Amino acid sequence: MKIFLDTASVEDIKTANDIIPLDGVTTNPTLIMKEGRDYVQTLKEITKIVNGPISAEPVSLDAKGMVKEGKEFAKIHKNIVIKVPMTPEGMKACRLLTKSGIKVNTTLVFSANQALLAAKAGTYLTSPFLGRLDDIGEKGTELIREIRQIYDNYRFKSQILAASIRSTDHVLEVAMMGADIATVPYKVYRQMFKHPLTDKGIKQFLDDWNKLQKELKKK
Ligand code: G3P
Repeated sequence: MKIFLDTASVEDIKTANDIIPLDGVTTNPTLIMKEGRDYVQTLKEITKIVNGPISAEPVSLDAKGMVKEGKEFAKIHKNIVIKVPMTPEGMKACRLLTKSGIKVNTTLVFSANQALLAAKAGTYLTSPFLGRLDDIGEKGTELIREIRQIYDNYRFKSQILAASIRSTDHVLEVAMMGADIATVPYKVYRQMFKHPLTDKGIKQFLDDWNKLQKELKKK
């Protein structure tokens, strides 16, 4: 499973990418608002760090506007992927952008039928939002299982990008269910490295090493 970072923080992207190269990045208007920076400039910087798909999101609601904004974003770098919402206008834009050689990430997907339609419109990435389904009392990760089955049944090439991930359990579940990609907030990414027994083991090895050095000095 590929791991993308779900952030517009260039600093966090740099830090994470120095540990293990990231497979891609997803951004959206909310994430860029948190950083309070210029969107295009931020995307330019991200493309210099990460060698993989980087999603940029237009704010137009009509297909014509999405295509216009999407084409501008796509000029930044060949790795830019354009996000469109799962609406009829979004799917129109998906077809037009795909036809002109620009890859699309269909966002705000909350049902398997929506994912089916996105695949039929030729989307490159399909983004089911797990955490937001959990928020309304549904089981977000179940959606990944359904979409996986549909995409496999009909050999759709669109990749499932599990989004709105809130915990390391989400990452584990979507990996078990066969998502192609998980886009993970930086905080969850850092938590994935952690296990109390790893910390305990390091401490024990260090304590024993120091004990040995003291004993050797005494001899
Ligand atoms: O990946 C989409 C993400 O940015 C939305 O996450 O936590 O606002 O539902 P959240």
